[in-house]
Amino acid sequence: MSVPSSAIESVLIENRVFPPSDAMVKCARISGMAAYNALCAQAGGDYEGFWATLARENLAWSKPFTKTLDESNAPFYKWFEDGELNASANCLDRHMGTPVENKTAIIFEADDGAVAKVTYKELLARVGQFANALKARGVKKGDRVILYMPMTVEGVIAMQACARLGAIHSVVFGGFSAKALQERIVNIGAVAVITANVQMRGGRAMPLKAVVDEALALGGCEAVKTVLVYQRTKDACNMVAGRDLTFEQALAGQSTTCAPVPVSAEHPLFVLYTSGSTGQPKGVVHCTGGYLLWAKLTMDWTFDLKPEDVFWCTADIGWITGHTYVAYGPLAAGGTQIMFEGVPTYPDAGRFWQMIERHKCSVFYTAPTAVRSLIKASEADPKVHPKRFDLSSLRILGSVGEPINPEAWVWYYKNVGGERCPIVDTWWQTETGGHMINPLPGVTALVPGSCTLPLPGLMISIVDEMGHEMPNGSGGMLVIKRPWPSMVRTIWNDPERFKKSYFPEELGGKTYLAGDGAVRSTGEATNGADRGYFRITGRIDDVLNVSGHRMGTMEIESALAAKSDLVAEAAVVGRPDDLTGEAICAFVVLKGGRPTGDEAVRIANELRNWIAKEIGPIAKPKDIRFGDNLPKTRSGKIMRRLLRSIAKGEPITQDVSTLENPQILKQLAEKL
Ligand code: PRX
Repeated sequence: MSVPSSAIESVLIENRVFPPSDAMVKCARISGMAAYNALCAQAGGDYEGFWATLARENLAWSKPFTKTLDESNAPFYKWFEDGELNASANCLDRHMGTPVENKTAIIFEADDGAVAKVTYKELLARVGQFANALKARGVKKGDRVILYMPMTVEGVIAMQACARLGAIHSVVFGGFSAKALQERIVNIGAVAVITANVQMRGGRAMPLKAVVDEALALGGCEAVKTVLVYQRTKDACNMVAGRDLTFEQALAGQSTTCAPVPVSAEHPLFVLYTSGSTGQPKGVVHCTGGYLLWAKLTMDWTFDLKPEDVFWCTADIGWITGHTYVAYGPLAAGGTQIMFEGVPTYPDAGRFWQMIERHKCSVFYTAPTAVRSLIKASEADPKVHPKRFDLSSLRILGSVGEPINPEAWVWYYKNVGGERCPIVDTWWQTETGGHMINPLPGVTALVPGSCTLPLPGLMISIVDEMGHEMPNGSGGMLVIKRPWPSMVRTIWNDPERFKKSYFPEELGGKTYLAGDGAVRSTGEATNGADRGYFRITGRIDDVLNVSGHRMGTMEIESALAAKSDLVAEAAVVGRPDDLTGEAICAFVVLKGGRPTGDEAVRIANELRNWIAKEIGPIAKPKDIRFGDNLPKTRSGKIMRRLLRSIAKGEPITQDVSTLENPQILKQLAEKL
């Protein structure tokens, strides 16, 4: 555990400040800094009481909890444990008999532009029917169900149906390979897989069921007794008798009424795999009560969601953002949301703006990579510039997944938000369940590139390796000092790794280590307006963030090493990229010696395709460099900081005296 130089480098001083408008302060749920401070003080005075009140106010409990927080087995914290509830009932049944019942829950826009709307009442019936279909196949409370689905309403229905039965879902992003899917199926011991024949993206149909078949054939998946297939298109796909059913077959004759199964607040709602610093992805476990509280609460706090809002989070349900801000949060809050199947650049790069105009979207939440790529596209083609569209329905913008650079922030603010919409730059992680550090629309003066202040109640700070608090202006490691309701509960099948990864002994074993570097502002450049604001400086571990997708360097290294007929050794690092935030750069030593010219290009492509098969296309390295060896110390340790410099194209200024083979640096600096 160490703070890399990137975390302590002083960041560019940003002096632009955008205070909230009077109108926004007036209408917001948390209105003004005094109200924010009052909530923080309340939590500071009675931490458990603060969360208990919110949990009672925001969730419907079938059995009320009597104990708020159990710290007796720290860091395995428990929240509201003796209370019972059902997540699906909180998202759907709860709205029946209220004005939300006939409200549109989801405006679905397909890849080809077809639009379908589903009301809360209809959604409840479809979820109930799907839950009955799962039940008929023997799926019950505690069983694990893998989803490998497109971004369609059916994906949300399947997640909600699992939750209704108390079954634990684990969604695998549709871009992961058969091998990655199989590893997750095996790790979690899934009894069923829910998928579709294909997914539609950018006018193309891409197979999903065929990948599931391939995954199941890789072995170790004997527990899977059922595969349910949504026929997204009429295209036929292979069906295995006795195991596979289309949705139509599975739903036939099933009642639309299915009583939700009450579960303990600590019953796992889902497991979502994410990358860490070893080769094996971590199954992050989230539990029903605390997670759902967070999903609902942050819809209210961060997005200040109003009954008339049309909310749109562009994230795929295969990522945590799509869990909290597509599948659960908007429904728990009784909101209307847009769900989009396709990609932002099809049929052209004006798609997002056109959809905001068409559906009168008022709260829009996307990733900096999408913003950056749309800036580039609108510079190349004025027809797709957001100014060409009527975006007057927007009132709040959001950013998630990676740092947003001030240039992209300002462009987003001006051209999409018309200089009227606050941008909530939300820092959080798969492990935190939902937003942690971000502006509140009616409270926070915005500073481009800063995620500003923690949500009320959260005890977040920046420390050095010894756990000492860093003063403003000095970078360090981001930590969360007190447990919070939506925190990761454990790593599936690996509690030891949970402790080691997030609650290191060096910090006392009870402080959550986020894995990010951060610095708080001194406020000097803004006359104190942003004093204490947080700015994230990037990961402090071997995790990369490519287009907002989390990738472990070790995962990619293991995939390369598995190509054992070709690869002798490989090291993977990240380097900054204007578009994707970070790009993957692989340094490879081949068994057959260092290739050059066309052969090097051919082998690099072969390795890229191999990685796409092992992990998924998102893990393909942008750069591959070949060497006779890797830079190593005399004790054989690969010097990654040198590789990072080479990847960036920087001259080597570091001390290389401990290097066994300094001549290798020049060779690795050569691009293909
Ligand atoms: O490095 C931080 C970055 O994304 C990581 C979490 O990735 P993941 O678990 O995939 O969740 C992404 C969706 C929340 C963090 O450790 N990150 C996320 N949001 C921001 C961010 N970095 C800077 N600013 C953000 N707003």
